[in-house]
Amino acid sequence: MTTSADDRHAVRRATTVAPPDPPGAPFPGVLAHHPGPSRLHGHAPAFHQATVVRGEPASHYFRASGISALAEENGGLCTFWMGQRLALYQITNVPLAGDDALAPSTDANRELFGDFMGSMPHDHPDRPGKRAAVERSLGSAKFVERLEPAVRRHTADHLCRVAGQEMPLDDFTLSLTAYVDSMIPGVLDLTRRPLPEYLRSAEYGHVVRGFFDLASDVISNDNPRAMREFDVIVPFVRDLLTANFESLAEAPDSNLIRRYFALWGRPFTRGGVAALDPAQIKELGTIIVATYDTTALSLMWALGYVESTPRVKSAIVAEARNGGGDRRCPRGGSSPSVIDLAVLEAVRLGGSNPSALWRRTTAPFTLHHRGARVTVPPGTMLWLDRRQANRDPAVFPEPCRFAPANIQAIVRSDRETVSSLLSRGRYEINSFSMINAERNPRKCPGRLFSVRMQALVLSELYGHYTVSTEGADLRLKRHASMPRPARPGTITIHRDTGTPREPSR
Ligand code: HEM
Repeated sequence: MTTSADDRHAVRRATTVAPPDPPGAPFPGVLAHHPGPSRLHGHAPAFHQATVVRGEPASHYFRASGISALAEENGGLCTFWMGQRLALYQITNVPLAGDDALAPSTDANRELFGDFMGSMPHDHPDRPGKRAAVERSLGSAKFVERLEPAVRRHTADHLCRVAGQEMPLDDFTLSLTAYVDSMIPGVLDLTRRPLPEYLRSAEYGHVVRGFFDLASDVISNDNPRAMREFDVIVPFVRDLLTANFESLAEAPDSNLIRRYFALWGRPFTRGGVAALDPAQIKELGTIIVATYDTTALSLMWALGYVESTPRVKSAIVAEARNGGGDRRCPRGGSSPSVIDLAVLEAVRLGGSNPSALWRRTTAPFTLHHRGARVTVPPGTMLWLDRRQANRDPAVFPEPCRFAPANIQAIVRSDRETVSSLLSRGRYEINSFSMINAERNPRKCPGRLFSVRMQALVLSELYGHYTVSTEGADLRLKRHASMPRPARPGTITIHRDTGTPREPSR
Protein backbone atom coordinates (compact mmCIF):
# COMPACT_ATOMS: atom_id res chain seq x y z
CA MET A 1 0.00 0.00 0.00
CA THR A 2 1.27 3.48 -0.83
CA THR A 3 0.62 6.61 1.21
CA SER A 4 0.29 10.12 -0.19
CA ALA A 5 2.41 13.01 1.08
CA ASP A 6 -0.63 14.32 2.96
CA ASP A 7 -1.16 10.95 4.60
CA ARG A 8 2.46 10.84 5.68
CA HIS A 9 2.13 14.32 7.24
CA ALA A 10 -1.03 13.22 9.02
CA VAL A 11 0.75 10.16 10.40
CA ARG A 12 3.70 12.26 11.49
CA ARG A 13 1.36 14.73 13.21
CA ALA A 14 -0.46 11.93 14.98
CA THR A 15 2.68 10.15 16.14
CA THR A 16 4.82 13.21 17.02
CA VAL A 17 4.94 13.47 20.76
CA ALA A 18 5.38 16.99 22.11
CA PRO A 19 8.65 17.27 24.03
CA PRO A 20 8.09 17.07 27.78
CA ASP A 21 7.72 20.42 29.52
CA PRO A 22 10.96 21.47 31.20
CA PRO A 23 11.01 21.78 34.98
CA GLY A 24 9.58 25.13 36.14
CA ALA A 25 7.13 25.38 33.21
CA PRO A 26 4.20 27.39 34.60
CA PHE A 27 1.57 26.27 32.06
CA PRO A 28 2.51 22.70 31.10
CA GLY A 29 0.90 21.43 27.94
CA VAL A 30 -0.38 24.90 26.94
CA LEU A 31 2.53 27.32 26.73
CA ALA A 32 6.06 26.33 25.74
CA HIS A 33 8.64 27.23 28.35
CA HIS A 34 12.30 28.17 27.97
CA PRO A 35 14.16 27.13 31.13
CA GLY A 36 17.18 29.43 30.70
CA PRO A 37 20.77 28.96 31.77
CA SER A 38 20.32 29.35 35.54
CA ARG A 39 18.26 26.84 37.47
CA LEU A 40 17.59 29.36 40.25
CA HIS A 41 17.36 32.62 38.32
CA GLY A 42 16.20 31.58 34.86
CA HIS A 43 17.31 34.14 32.28
CA ALA A 44 17.95 37.10 34.61
CA PRO A 45 21.77 36.90 34.93
CA ALA A 46 22.37 36.13 31.23
CA PHE A 47 19.92 38.84 30.14
CA HIS A 48 21.67 41.38 32.38
CA GLN A 49 25.09 40.37 31.00
CA ALA A 50 23.88 40.66 27.42
CA THR A 51 21.87 43.90 27.59
CA VAL A 52 23.50 45.91 30.38
CA VAL A 53 27.11 44.68 30.40
CA ARG A 54 27.61 43.93 26.69
CA GLY A 55 25.00 46.50 25.60
CA GLU A 56 23.14 44.28 23.15
CA PRO A 57 19.54 45.14 22.19
CA ALA A 58 17.08 43.03 24.21
CA SER A 59 15.69 41.53 21.01
CA HIS A 60 19.16 40.13 20.18
CA TYR A 61 19.23 38.36 23.51
CA PHE A 62 15.87 36.76 22.87
CA ARG A 63 17.07 35.56 19.47
CA ALA A 64 20.46 34.31 20.72
CA SER A 65 19.06 32.55 23.79
CA GLY A 66 16.57 30.50 21.79
CA ILE A 67 13.52 32.20 23.35
CA SER A 68 12.43 33.66 19.99
CA ALA A 69 12.77 30.35 18.18
CA LEU A 70 10.72 28.61 20.86
CA ALA A 71 7.96 31.22 20.52
CA GLU A 72 8.07 30.92 16.73
CA GLU A 73 7.53 27.17 16.96
CA ASN A 74 4.69 27.57 19.45
CA GLY A 75 2.20 30.02 18.01
CA GLY A 76 4.16 33.18 18.84
CA LEU A 77 4.29 32.77 22.63
CA CYS A 78 6.39 31.13 25.32
CA THR A 79 7.28 31.71 28.95
CA PHE A 80 10.57 32.07 30.82
CA TRP A 81 11.70 33.09 34.28
CA MET A 82 13.42 36.44 34.79
CA GLY A 83 14.79 35.74 38.27
CA GLN A 84 11.76 35.05 40.44
CA ARG A 85 9.43 36.82 38.00
CA LEU A 86 7.35 34.93 35.48
CA ALA A 87 7.71 36.35 31.95
CA LEU A 88 5.35 35.78 29.04
CA TYR A 89 7.16 36.47 25.77
CA GLN A 90 5.34 37.41 22.55
CA ILE A 91 6.61 37.64 19.00
CA THR A 92 3.47 38.77 17.14
CA ASN A 93 1.46 42.00 17.20
CA VAL A 94 -1.75 40.43 18.49
CA PRO A 95 -3.20 41.94 21.70
CA LEU A 96 -3.26 39.48 24.61
CA ALA A 97 -4.59 41.48 27.57
CA GLY A 98 -6.65 44.58 28.31
CA ASP A 99 -5.02 47.76 29.55
CA ASP A 100 -6.97 47.31 32.80
CA ALA A 101 -4.89 44.20 33.63
CA LEU A 102 -1.59 46.04 33.07
CA ALA A 103 0.50 48.45 35.12
CA PRO A 104 0.99 51.89 33.54
CA SER A 105 3.42 51.82 30.62
CA THR A 106 6.08 53.98 32.21
CA ASP A 107 5.59 52.68 35.75
CA ALA A 108 9.29 51.89 36.06
CA ASN A 109 10.19 55.49 35.11
CA ARG A 110 7.73 57.38 37.28
CA GLU A 111 10.62 59.27 38.93
CA LEU A 112 11.84 60.54 35.58
CA PHE A 113 8.50 61.43 34.02
CA GLY A 114 6.69 63.11 36.95
CA ASP A 115 2.91 63.31 36.41
CA PHE A 116 3.16 62.12 32.77
CA MET A 117 0.01 60.29 31.60
CA GLY A 118 2.01 57.17 30.70
CA SER A 119 2.73 56.63 34.42
CA MET A 120 -0.96 56.79 35.39
CA PRO A 121 -3.22 53.76 35.86
CA HIS A 122 -5.76 53.12 33.10
CA ASP A 123 -8.67 54.50 35.15
CA HIS A 124 -6.96 57.57 36.60
CA PRO A 125 -9.46 60.46 36.28
CA ASP A 126 -6.77 62.82 34.89
CA ARG A 127 -5.72 60.56 31.99
CA PRO A 128 -8.47 61.47 29.50
CA GLY A 129 -7.82 65.22 29.85
CA LYS A 130 -4.08 64.76 29.51
CA ARG A 131 -4.44 62.62 26.41
CA ALA A 132 -6.91 65.06 24.90
CA ALA A 133 -4.46 67.95 25.38
CA VAL A 134 -2.17 66.26 22.84
CA GLU A 135 -4.64 64.27 20.76
CA ARG A 136 -7.08 67.11 20.01
CA SER A 137 -4.44 68.74 17.86
CA LEU A 138 -1.65 66.29 16.97
CA GLY A 139 -4.11 63.42 16.51
CA SER A 140 -6.50 65.40 14.31
CA ALA A 141 -6.07 64.89 10.56
CA LYS A 142 -7.54 68.36 9.92
CA PHE A 143 -5.19 70.11 12.34
CA VAL A 144 -2.16 68.26 11.01
CA GLU A 145 -3.16 69.06 7.42
CA ARG A 146 -3.42 72.77 8.27
CA LEU A 147 0.16 72.71 9.54
CA GLU A 148 1.53 71.69 6.14
CA PRO A 149 2.50 75.17 4.84
CA ALA A 150 4.26 76.06 8.10
CA VAL A 151 6.10 72.72 8.27
CA ARG A 152 7.27 73.17 4.67
CA ARG A 153 8.31 76.80 5.22
CA HIS A 154 10.37 76.17 8.37
CA THR A 155 11.88 73.02 6.90
CA ALA A 156 12.90 74.99 3.81
CA ASP A 157 14.49 77.70 5.99
CA HIS A 158 16.46 75.15 7.96
CA LEU A 159 17.60 73.19 4.90
CA CYS A 160 18.77 76.39 3.26
CA ARG A 161 20.94 77.16 6.30
CA VAL A 162 22.65 73.74 6.43
CA ALA A 163 23.03 73.18 2.65
CA GLY A 164 26.57 72.45 1.55
CA GLN A 165 27.80 71.29 4.98
CA GLU A 166 28.60 67.66 5.72
CA MET A 167 26.75 66.80 8.96
CA PRO A 168 26.32 63.66 11.05
CA LEU A 169 22.91 62.26 10.03
CA ASP A 170 21.66 62.11 13.63
CA ASP A 171 22.53 65.78 14.26
CA PHE A 172 20.89 66.72 10.98
CA THR A 173 17.54 65.12 11.80
CA LEU A 174 17.59 66.20 15.45
CA SER A 175 18.31 69.86 14.78
CA LEU A 176 15.86 69.95 11.88
CA THR A 177 13.00 68.35 13.84
CA ALA A 178 13.66 70.37 16.99
CA TYR A 179 13.74 73.59 14.93
CA VAL A 180 10.55 72.91 12.96
CA ASP A 181 8.69 71.75 16.09
CA SER A 182 9.74 74.96 17.89
CA MET A 183 8.58 77.21 15.06
CA ILE A 184 5.28 75.85 13.71
CA PRO A 185 2.39 77.80 15.24
CA GLY A 186 0.09 76.07 17.70
CA VAL A 187 2.29 73.15 18.76
CA LEU A 188 5.18 74.21 21.02
CA ASP A 189 5.69 77.86 19.99
CA LEU A 190 9.25 78.10 21.27
CA THR A 191 10.22 80.74 18.76
CA ARG A 192 12.21 83.08 21.04
CA ARG A 193 14.77 80.46 22.05
CA PRO A 194 14.13 77.39 19.87
CA LEU A 195 15.01 73.89 21.03
CA PRO A 196 18.20 73.45 18.96
CA GLU A 197 19.86 76.08 21.18
CA TYR A 198 19.21 73.86 24.21
CA LEU A 199 20.43 70.76 22.40
CA ARG A 200 23.73 72.54 21.75
CA SER A 201 24.08 73.90 25.30
CA ALA A 202 26.80 72.50 27.55
CA GLU A 203 24.44 72.74 30.52
CA TYR A 204 21.44 70.80 29.23
CA GLY A 205 22.45 69.22 25.91
CA HIS A 206 23.53 65.80 27.18
CA VAL A 207 20.43 65.32 29.31
CA VAL A 208 17.95 66.55 26.77
CA ARG A 209 19.48 64.33 24.09
CA GLY A 210 19.71 61.25 26.31
CA PHE A 211 16.30 61.47 28.02
CA PHE A 212 14.52 58.64 26.25
CA ASP A 213 17.64 56.47 26.06
CA LEU A 214 17.75 56.53 29.83
CA ALA A 215 14.07 55.77 30.20
CA SER A 216 14.38 52.94 27.70
CA ASP A 217 17.37 51.51 29.49
CA VAL A 218 15.28 51.23 32.66
CA ILE A 219 12.48 49.39 30.92
CA SER A 220 13.88 47.51 27.93
CA ASN A 221 16.96 46.26 29.76
CA ASP A 222 15.09 45.82 33.03
CA ASN A 223 17.78 48.01 34.58
CA PRO A 224 16.35 50.22 37.37
CA ARG A 225 19.86 51.42 38.32
CA ALA A 226 20.07 53.42 35.10
CA MET A 227 18.38 56.45 36.68
CA ARG A 228 21.15 58.96 37.49
CA GLU A 229 21.56 62.74 37.42
CA PHE A 230 18.52 63.31 35.32
CA ASP A 231 16.84 65.90 37.48
CA VAL A 232 18.55 68.45 35.19
CA ILE A 233 15.32 68.16 33.20
CA VAL A 234 13.74 70.48 35.81
CA PRO A 235 16.01 73.57 35.33
CA PHE A 236 15.96 72.91 31.56
CA VAL A 237 12.17 73.16 31.34
CA ARG A 238 12.04 76.22 33.63
CA ASP A 239 14.63 77.97 31.47
CA LEU A 240 12.78 77.01 28.28
CA LEU A 241 9.46 78.37 29.58
CA THR A 242 11.02 81.59 30.82
CA ALA A 243 13.08 82.28 27.70
CA ASN A 244 10.04 81.64 25.48
CA PHE A 245 7.51 83.30 27.74
CA GLU A 246 6.40 85.92 25.17
CA SER A 247 5.95 83.50 22.27
CA LEU A 248 4.05 81.12 24.54
CA ALA A 249 1.84 83.89 25.89
CA GLU A 250 0.85 84.80 22.31
CA ALA A 251 0.49 81.18 21.12
CA PRO A 252 -2.70 79.83 19.49
CA ASP A 253 -5.10 77.87 21.74
CA SER A 254 -3.84 74.54 20.44
CA ASN A 255 -0.39 75.07 22.03
CA LEU A 256 0.46 71.95 24.07
CA ILE A 257 2.24 73.78 26.89
CA ARG A 258 -0.61 76.25 27.40
CA ARG A 259 -3.10 73.36 27.40
CA TYR A 260 -1.19 71.80 30.28
CA PHE A 261 -1.37 75.03 32.26
CA ALA A 262 -5.13 75.03 31.65
CA LEU A 263 -5.37 71.41 32.86
CA TRP A 264 -3.54 72.31 36.06
CA GLY A 265 -5.83 75.31 36.55
CA ARG A 266 -2.83 77.69 36.53
CA PRO A 267 -2.69 80.99 34.72
CA PHE A 268 0.11 81.21 32.17
CA THR A 269 2.07 83.97 33.90
CA ARG A 270 5.70 84.26 34.95
CA GLY A 271 4.50 83.58 38.50
CA GLY A 272 2.61 80.50 37.26
CA VAL A 273 5.78 79.17 35.63
CA ALA A 274 7.80 79.75 38.82
CA ALA A 275 5.16 77.96 40.91
CA LEU A 276 5.17 74.68 38.94
CA ASP A 277 6.22 71.72 41.09
CA PRO A 278 8.86 69.21 39.90
CA ALA A 279 6.26 66.57 38.96
CA GLN A 280 4.50 69.07 36.67
CA ILE A 281 7.79 70.30 35.20
CA LYS A 282 8.87 66.73 34.44
CA GLU A 283 5.54 65.99 32.84
CA LEU A 284 5.88 69.01 30.58
CA GLY A 285 9.51 68.08 29.83
CA THR A 286 8.42 64.60 28.78
CA ILE A 287 5.79 66.00 26.39
CA ILE A 288 8.27 68.48 24.90
CA VAL A 289 11.02 65.88 24.43
CA ALA A 290 8.50 63.35 23.05
CA THR A 291 7.46 65.86 20.42
CA TYR A 292 10.86 66.15 18.75
CA ASP A 293 13.05 63.28 19.97
CA THR A 294 11.22 60.20 18.64
CA THR A 295 10.35 62.00 15.40
CA ALA A 296 14.02 62.90 14.88
CA LEU A 297 15.07 59.29 15.47
CA SER A 298 12.38 58.03 13.16
CA LEU A 299 13.42 60.49 10.45
CA MET A 300 17.02 59.33 10.79
CA TRP A 301 15.93 55.74 10.05
CA ALA A 302 13.77 56.91 7.18
CA LEU A 303 16.66 58.79 5.59
CA GLY A 304 19.11 55.97 6.27
CA TYR A 305 16.84 53.41 4.59
CA VAL A 306 15.86 55.65 1.66
CA GLU A 307 19.50 56.46 0.95
CA SER A 308 20.45 52.79 0.98
CA THR A 309 17.57 51.75 -1.31
CA PRO A 310 18.08 53.43 -4.73
CA ARG A 311 14.77 52.20 -6.18
CA VAL A 312 12.76 53.75 -3.38
CA LYS A 313 14.86 56.92 -3.44
CA SER A 314 14.13 57.44 -7.17
CA ALA A 315 10.39 57.01 -6.58
CA ILE A 316 10.51 59.52 -3.71
CA VAL A 317 12.51 62.08 -5.70
CA ALA A 318 10.06 61.74 -8.60
CA GLU A 319 7.06 62.20 -6.32
CA ALA A 320 8.61 65.11 -4.41
CA ARG A 321 9.46 66.95 -7.63
CA ASN A 322 5.99 66.35 -8.89
CA GLY A 323 4.55 68.24 -5.92
CA GLY A 324 3.56 65.04 -4.10
CA GLY A 325 0.97 64.02 -6.72
CA ASP A 326 -2.79 64.21 -6.38
CA ARG A 327 -3.72 61.66 -3.77
CA ARG A 328 -7.13 62.89 -2.62
CA CYS A 329 -9.57 60.13 -1.81
CA PRO A 330 -13.09 60.44 -3.19
CA ARG A 331 -14.38 60.35 0.43
CA GLY A 332 -11.91 62.97 1.74
CA GLY A 333 -8.53 62.40 3.41
CA SER A 334 -5.54 61.27 1.43
CA SER A 335 -4.49 57.85 0.32
CA PRO A 336 -0.87 57.17 1.33
CA SER A 337 1.71 58.54 -1.12
CA VAL A 338 5.03 56.82 -1.87
CA ILE A 339 6.64 59.12 0.69
CA ASP A 340 4.01 58.27 3.36
CA LEU A 341 4.57 54.57 2.70
CA ALA A 342 8.33 55.02 3.07
CA VAL A 343 7.92 56.83 6.40
CA LEU A 344 5.58 54.13 7.75
CA GLU A 345 7.92 51.43 6.49
CA ALA A 346 10.86 53.05 8.31
CA VAL A 347 8.73 53.22 11.47
CA ARG A 348 8.08 49.47 11.07
CA LEU A 349 11.63 48.40 10.30
CA GLY A 350 13.72 50.85 12.35
CA GLY A 351 11.18 51.08 15.12
CA SER A 352 12.34 54.39 16.64
CA ASN A 353 11.49 52.81 19.97
CA PRO A 354 13.21 49.99 21.93
CA SER A 355 13.46 46.56 20.34
CA ALA A 356 11.64 44.82 23.19
CA LEU A 357 9.54 46.20 26.03
CA TRP A 358 7.42 44.82 28.84
CA ARG A 359 4.57 45.78 31.10
CA ARG A 360 3.66 44.15 34.41
CA THR A 361 0.27 42.52 34.87
CA THR A 362 -1.66 43.85 37.86
CA ALA A 363 -4.64 41.49 37.72
CA PRO A 364 -5.13 37.90 36.57
CA PHE A 365 -6.20 37.64 32.92
CA THR A 366 -7.31 34.75 30.76
CA LEU A 367 -4.97 33.96 27.91
CA HIS A 368 -6.43 32.03 24.99
CA HIS A 369 -3.83 30.07 23.10
CA ARG A 370 -4.34 27.43 20.41
CA GLY A 371 -7.73 26.35 21.66
CA ALA A 372 -6.68 26.20 25.33
CA ARG A 373 -6.77 28.85 28.02
CA VAL A 374 -4.77 29.65 31.11
CA THR A 375 -4.93 32.30 33.81
CA VAL A 376 -1.87 34.52 33.80
CA PRO A 377 -1.25 35.74 37.36
CA PRO A 378 -0.62 39.34 38.44
CA GLY A 379 3.04 40.31 38.65
CA THR A 380 3.89 38.66 35.31
CA MET A 381 6.18 40.51 32.89
CA LEU A 382 4.40 40.70 29.53
CA TRP A 383 7.23 41.06 27.02
CA LEU A 384 6.74 42.05 23.42
CA ASP A 385 9.67 41.55 21.08
CA ARG A 386 8.67 44.54 18.97
CA ARG A 387 11.54 44.26 16.53
CA GLN A 388 10.59 40.73 15.59
CA ALA A 389 6.83 41.27 15.76
CA ASN A 390 7.25 44.14 13.28
CA ARG A 391 9.00 41.63 10.98
CA ASP A 392 6.25 39.02 11.13
CA PRO A 393 6.44 37.08 7.82
CA ALA A 394 2.74 36.26 8.10
CA VAL A 395 1.98 39.99 7.77
CA PHE A 396 4.80 41.50 5.70
CA PRO A 397 5.91 39.99 2.37
CA GLU A 398 9.51 41.21 2.68
CA PRO A 399 9.80 41.37 6.46
CA CYS A 400 13.51 42.13 6.78
CA ARG A 401 13.86 44.55 3.85
CA PHE A 402 13.00 48.21 3.52
CA ALA A 403 10.20 47.94 0.97
CA PRO A 404 7.09 50.16 0.85
CA ALA A 405 5.34 47.01 -0.48
CA ASN A 406 5.27 45.84 3.14
CA ILE A 407 2.95 48.71 4.02
CA GLN A 408 0.98 48.24 0.82
CA ALA A 409 0.35 44.69 2.02
CA ILE A 410 -1.61 45.97 5.02
CA VAL A 411 -3.67 48.48 3.00
CA ARG A 412 -7.18 47.02 3.09
CA SER A 413 -8.97 49.13 0.48
CA ASP A 414 -8.62 52.26 -1.63
CA ARG A 415 -10.26 54.13 1.23
CA GLU A 416 -7.24 53.57 3.45
CA THR A 417 -5.45 56.73 4.65
CA VAL A 418 -2.37 57.33 6.78
CA SER A 419 -4.79 58.04 9.66
CA SER A 420 -6.67 54.79 9.22
CA LEU A 421 -3.42 52.78 9.00
CA LEU A 422 -2.39 54.36 12.30
CA SER A 423 -5.76 54.03 14.04
CA ARG A 424 -5.99 52.45 17.49
CA GLY A 425 -7.66 49.34 16.12
CA ARG A 426 -4.75 48.50 13.81
CA TYR A 427 -2.05 46.24 15.22
CA GLU A 428 0.17 45.31 12.26
CA ILE A 429 2.88 47.84 13.13
CA ASN A 430 3.42 48.07 16.83
CA SER A 431 5.91 50.98 17.00
CA PHE A 432 3.42 53.39 18.64
CA SER A 433 2.51 51.14 21.60
CA MET A 434 4.76 49.59 24.20
CA ILE A 435 3.11 46.20 24.01
CA ASN A 436 -0.17 45.22 22.37
CA ALA A 437 -3.15 45.97 24.61
CA GLU A 438 -6.74 45.37 23.54
CA ARG A 439 -8.12 48.48 21.80
CA ASN A 440 -4.77 50.24 22.37
CA PRO A 441 -5.98 53.04 24.69
CA ARG A 442 -2.41 54.28 25.20
CA LYS A 443 -1.38 54.26 21.54
CA CYS A 444 0.84 57.30 20.96
CA PRO A 445 -1.34 60.41 20.55
CA GLY A 446 1.41 62.16 18.51
CA ARG A 447 1.73 59.46 15.84
CA LEU A 448 -0.22 61.11 13.02
CA PHE A 449 1.61 64.41 13.47
CA SER A 450 4.97 62.65 13.53
CA VAL A 451 4.36 60.56 10.41
CA ARG A 452 2.93 63.48 8.39
CA MET A 453 5.69 65.80 9.50
CA GLN A 454 8.37 63.35 8.40
CA ALA A 455 6.65 62.94 5.03
CA LEU A 456 6.59 66.73 4.51
CA VAL A 457 10.25 67.05 5.48
CA LEU A 458 11.23 64.31 3.00
CA SER A 459 9.13 65.98 0.32
CA GLU A 460 10.86 69.37 0.86
CA LEU A 461 14.27 67.74 1.02
CA TYR A 462 14.08 65.49 -2.03
CA GLY A 463 11.97 68.03 -3.95
CA HIS A 464 14.67 70.72 -3.91
CA TYR A 465 17.99 69.14 -2.94
CA THR A 466 20.42 66.53 -4.11
CA VAL A 467 21.08 64.37 -1.08
CA SER A 468 24.12 62.21 -0.47
CA THR A 469 25.03 60.18 2.60
CA GLU A 470 28.18 58.36 3.56
CA GLY A 471 29.46 55.88 6.12
CA ALA A 472 26.13 54.65 7.55
CA ASP A 473 25.88 51.23 9.21
CA LEU A 474 22.22 50.48 9.84
CA ARG A 475 22.76 47.55 12.18
CA LEU A 476 21.68 48.30 15.74
CA LYS A 477 24.13 50.18 17.92
CA ARG A 478 25.25 48.60 21.18
CA HIS A 479 24.75 50.33 24.53
CA ALA A 480 21.83 52.34 23.16
CA SER A 481 18.39 51.42 24.40
CA MET A 482 16.61 53.45 21.77
CA PRO A 483 17.30 51.76 18.43
CA ARG A 484 20.07 53.78 16.79
CA PRO A 485 22.17 52.78 13.79
CA ALA A 486 25.65 51.44 14.67
CA ARG A 487 26.96 54.40 12.63
CA PRO A 488 24.56 57.06 11.38
CA GLY A 489 27.13 58.33 8.86
CA THR A 490 26.96 61.81 7.40
CA ILE A 491 24.63 63.69 5.07
CA THR A 492 25.36 66.51 2.64
CA ILE A 493 22.64 68.34 0.75
CA HIS A 494 23.02 70.67 -2.24
CA ARG A 495 20.28 72.92 -3.55
CA ASP A 496 19.39 71.89 -7.09
CA THR A 497 20.03 74.41 -9.77
CA GLY A 498 16.71 75.23 -11.39
CA THR A 499 14.82 75.20 -8.07
CA PRO A 500 15.62 78.67 -6.71
CA ARG A 501 15.08 79.20 -3.01
CA GLU A 502 11.68 80.75 -2.54
CA PRO A 503 11.54 83.58 -0.01
CA SER A 504 9.96 82.56 3.33
CA ARG A 505 6.22 83.09 3.22
C1 HEM B 1 7.93 58.34 15.43
C2 HEM B 1 7.58 59.04 16.49
C3 HEM B 1 6.99 58.46 17.75
C4 HEM B 1 7.04 57.17 18.23
C5 HEM B 1 7.73 55.97 17.62
C6 HEM B 1 6.30 57.16 19.48
C7 HEM B 1 6.11 56.04 20.25
C8 HEM B 1 5.36 56.01 21.41
C9 HEM B 1 5.14 54.82 22.21
C10 HEM B 1 5.74 53.45 21.93
C11 HEM B 1 4.34 55.16 23.24
C12 HEM B 1 3.90 54.25 24.39
C13 HEM B 1 2.46 53.82 24.21
C14 HEM B 1 2.06 52.84 25.30
O1 HEM B 1 2.08 53.22 26.49
O2 HEM B 1 1.77 51.69 24.98
C15 HEM B 1 4.04 56.56 23.10
C16 HEM B 1 3.23 57.25 23.96
C17 HEM B 1 3.11 58.60 23.92
N1 HEM B 1 3.62 59.46 22.97
FE1 HEM B 1 4.65 58.94 21.29
N2 HEM B 1 5.83 58.41 19.73
C18 HEM B 1 6.23 59.25 18.71
C19 HEM B 1 5.94 60.59 18.58
C20 HEM B 1 5.29 61.34 19.52
C21 HEM B 1 5.01 62.74 19.39
C22 HEM B 1 5.38 63.64 18.20
C23 HEM B 1 4.36 63.12 20.52
C24 HEM B 1 3.90 64.51 20.79
C25 HEM B 1 3.61 65.04 21.94
C26 HEM B 1 4.20 61.93 21.37
C27 HEM B 1 3.57 61.88 22.61
C28 HEM B 1 3.27 60.73 23.30
C29 HEM B 1 2.49 60.70 24.54
C30 HEM B 1 1.90 61.90 25.26
C31 HEM B 1 2.38 59.35 24.92
C32 HEM B 1 1.65 58.78 26.14
C33 HEM B 1 0.30 58.21 25.73
C34 HEM B 1 -0.51 57.59 26.87
O3 HEM B 1 0.03 57.21 27.89
O4 HEM B 1 -1.75 57.48 26.72
N3 HEM B 1 4.78 60.87 20.71
N4 HEM B 1 4.66 57.05 21.97
